[in-house]
Amino acid sequence: MRRKLAAGNWKMNGLTASLSEIGTLAGDLPETPCEVLICPPATLIAAMAGAVHGTGIAVGGQDCHAAESGAHTGDISAAMLADAGASHVILGHSERRADHGETDADVAAKTEAAWKAGLTAVVCVGETEAQYRAGETLAVIRSQLAGSLPGGTTAANTVIAYEPVWAIGTGLVPQMDEIASVHGAIRAALSDRFGADMADGTRILYGGSVKPGNAAEIFAVANVDGALVGGASLKAADFGPIVAAASAA
Ligand code: PGA
Repeated sequence: MRRKLAAGNWKMNGLTASLSEIGTLAGDLPETPCEVLICPPATLIAAMAGAVHGTGIAVGGQDCHAAESGAHTGDISAAMLADAGASHVILGHSERRADHGETDADVAAKTEAAWKAGLTAVVCVGETEAQYRAGETLAVIRSQLAGSLPGGTTAANTVIAYEPVWAIGTGLVPQMDEIASVHGAIRAALSDRFGADMADGTRILYGGSVKPGNAAEIFAVANVDGALVGGASLKAADFGPIVAAASAA
């Protein structure tokens, strides 16, 4: 049985004062919560790791460098994230792929670096609007999975996030049967490459305009094991109901 995961991606948002949201979120957690992960900007990881202590909420990074250390000004290694208190790291988010030209090979290298530091990788895939309109969604997703997941991928060291680029921050969400079809195809691709046991155990999150109002419907879709939430993860008043919906699903 896969435990649902509600993951928040704060992106480039949040100052020290934003940590108060964590106390509110923790105070409102359901009695039997789903797994909860918050990925704040790197500047807040250590403080957030302190703030979530004893709540069961996990903290993650939003990216890491593929190298362990070295002359890479401005970059952060997976070991540094772990040292600051992170247990997860988001990799291959479409904003990293678009803004920083990250390729599938880059994502695969970063994923291996994350594992080496003991982090769980949250590997993102998703088609652009043009690819969606051209009917290329499944081909794009299969190709990104093939290129972004290293050979050692397991249900324990990796979570997949399906995030249609056109749904991120737009308020647009695919039809539920479209989400079901992509998530089913992702699980089938994992099974073909890594075997049925790995595929059965791996969480596949949906991301893109998940809100309190649509979360329950999305979590009821076959093969959706949680969500990667951007804008609606910033405030406990929005993220709390999403966590509650995932916990009840
Ligand atoms: P959104 O972002 O929830 O604001 O659409 C999701 C994401 O980019 O992870």
